[in-house]
Amino acid sequence: MRSIVLLVLLFCIIGNINGSHFLGGTISWRPVNASATGTSVDITITQTYSWTYSLITCTTAMITSIQLIPVGFYSYLTTQQLVCISNCGASSTGYVAPSVRPYCMDISAPVGTTVGQRSDIVTLQEDDDFSAAFQQNAWRPLATAMIADWSISVRITVNRRSDNNLYNSAPVATMMSPILIPVNQTTVIYVPVVDDDGDVTRCRWSTASNGVNECGGVCPPGSLPSNTTIDPNCTILITGQTVGNWYAVTLMVEDFINSTSTTPLSSVPVQFLVQVVEQSLCSNPPTIIGIPPKESCIVAITGQTFSSQLIAINNCGSNVTIIDITIFAFLGMTRGNVIQLNITTYYANLSWTPTGSQIGYQLLCAMAFDSQNAQSSQYCFKFYVTQTSLCACPGEACITIDSITSPTSTENCLFICLSIIMIKSDPIYLC
Ligand SMILES: *[C@@H]1O[C@H](CO)[C@@H](O)[C@H](O)[C@H]1NC(C)=O
Ligand SMILES: *[C@@H]1O[C@H](CO)[C@@H](O)[C@H](O)[C@H]1NC(C)=O
Ligand SMILES: *[C@@H]1O[C@H](CO)[C@@H](O)[C@H](O)[C@H]1NC(C)=O
Ligand SMILES: *[C@@H]1O[C@H](CO)[C@@H](O)[C@H](O)[C@H]1NC(C)=O
Ligand SMILES: *[C@@H]1O[C@H](CO)[C@@H](O)[C@H](O)[C@H]1NC(C)=O
Ligand SMILES: *[C@@H]1O[C@H](CO)[C@@H](O)[C@H](O)[C@H]1NC(C)=O
Ligand SMILES: *[C@@H]1O[C@H](CO)[C@@H](O)[C@H](O)[C@H]1NC(C)=O
Ligand SMILES: *[C@@H]1O[C@H](CO)[C@@H](O)[C@H](O)[C@H]1NC(C)=O
Repeated sequence: MRSIVLLVLLFCIIGNINGSHFLGGTISWRPVNASATGTSVDITITQTYSWTYSLITCTTAMITSIQLIPVGFYSYLTTQQLVCISNCGASSTGYVAPSVRPYCMDISAPVGTTVGQRSDIVTLQEDDDFSAAFQQNAWRPLATAMIADWSISVRITVNRRSDNNLYNSAPVATMMSPILIPVNQTTVIYVPVVDDDGDVTRCRWSTASNGVNECGGVCPPGSLPSNTTIDPNCTILITGQTVGNWYAVTLMVEDFINSTSTTPLSSVPVQFLVQVVEQSLCSNPPTIIGIPPKESCIVAITGQTFSSQLIAINNCGSNVTIIDITIFAFLGMTRGNVIQLNITTYYANLSWTPTGSQIGYQLLCAMAFDSQNAQSSQYCFKFYVTQTSLCACPGEACITIDSITSPTSTENCLFICLSIIMIKSDPIYLC
């Protein structure tokens, strides 16, 4: 009798641990060479997932040396793959499912998150069109389910674009998890998206009813507080009424050939958690400033090191401290510890040397958390990685000053951009 009770107890504890490690993620893909000829096309698939820090614990050293996340209790991570779940067979010719186990990318002990990412190249065939997913159990306990399955799926369509005959790239979106929402206040959450082809992109809720399971046990609207809305511009309005409730938000970002088209070229998932928290005693959440400026784009050249700083400002005086600045970015981008300069100002260094496999747009988002459960809005900017010099990101004007009207190399351009910002900004910025 006693041993049965013990077993049941043990099972509960294990079940509980098991049911609290997944915090969300995103998956995207792009051709290695959009102008590839022939019918075999190499596609890079990038998976990014967030985990509970105490259960999957990376270290700074593991981030710097790009180690696989430790699997801890979750041995399935050593074998599980991003398997084809829909339109498999003739439409997924060449697909060899990659592992789902990512490399360490960012950690925050105070916030309780480990973020991991991996990129794999698969050789597909022109006209392949299928969905692949990472499906497991379980999300951290949620208001709508103590133990919910997750299903994070991506639609991969290897087609030449009707406008330029190049292979299409899927959009890239990032979203930090968790997002803290003050109780009984409608919070606006904006999901940042970039697209290598400059396509029109739109967001929609994930669904499990159109033949592809995009959301597992957390499909909107049932998985969300009532009245939660999303618009095509990826703006979410959400209000939580009970402190301590957690919700999983599951959406898809799609790209279209033009603004009138309703046929997506591809679909990529974005999944994250929101946590309902007390309204902060101080109504001014922290803010992030820094270089590059919010929502800007800068050119990065493979092999050349980018260094910068994220600056977090505490707007609540001496009773509040910034507990961490977290990032959601890409492999190789390292973030230093958060250093306090004075009551208001904190910073963390960023450093990254882009590699050939990172060519195209890369998105970085950062967020500051304070000791009163308040969170800054996401501070995001993008990089355009190239092998050769470019004065500005595609489609954007070069920045020029005074007599210098046409910088000859990216380095010049970057230097000019950064020096303008430096002149206008506070001297603590070290570029
Ligand atoms: C991309 O493919 C085209 C056509 O095969 C080739 O000419 C070009 O060199 C390739 N580009 C790169 C960066 O490999
Ligand atoms: C949802 O929105 C409707 C209309 O705006 C409002 O009448 C209703 O009270 C809201 N429900 C909740 C639970 O907030
Ligand atoms: C989305 O953004 C576009 C361009 O900024 C704007 O014209 C449109 O009204 C927005 N749509 C919604 C639903 O907010
Ligand atoms: C939030 O609103 C709900 C519904 O109006 C109410 O029951 C609850 O007490 C409110 N919570 C707080 C902390 O104000
Ligand atoms: C949008 O794309 C569709 C499909 O290629 C095409 O039929 C339509 O004419 C395009 N519309 C515009 C405004 O370019
Ligand atoms: C800081 O906290 C102390 C003790 O709770 C309080 O007396 C003081 O007014 C607070 N200061 C600010 C700036 O909020
Ligand atoms: C904190 O340090 C920054 C950078 O040195 C400075 O600009 C700011 O004025 C300082 N703030 C206070 C309150 O000392
Ligand atoms: C941040 O970078 C600057 C300039 O490279 C360096 O002087 C400083 O020591 C770094 N700080 C930390 C905490 O790594």
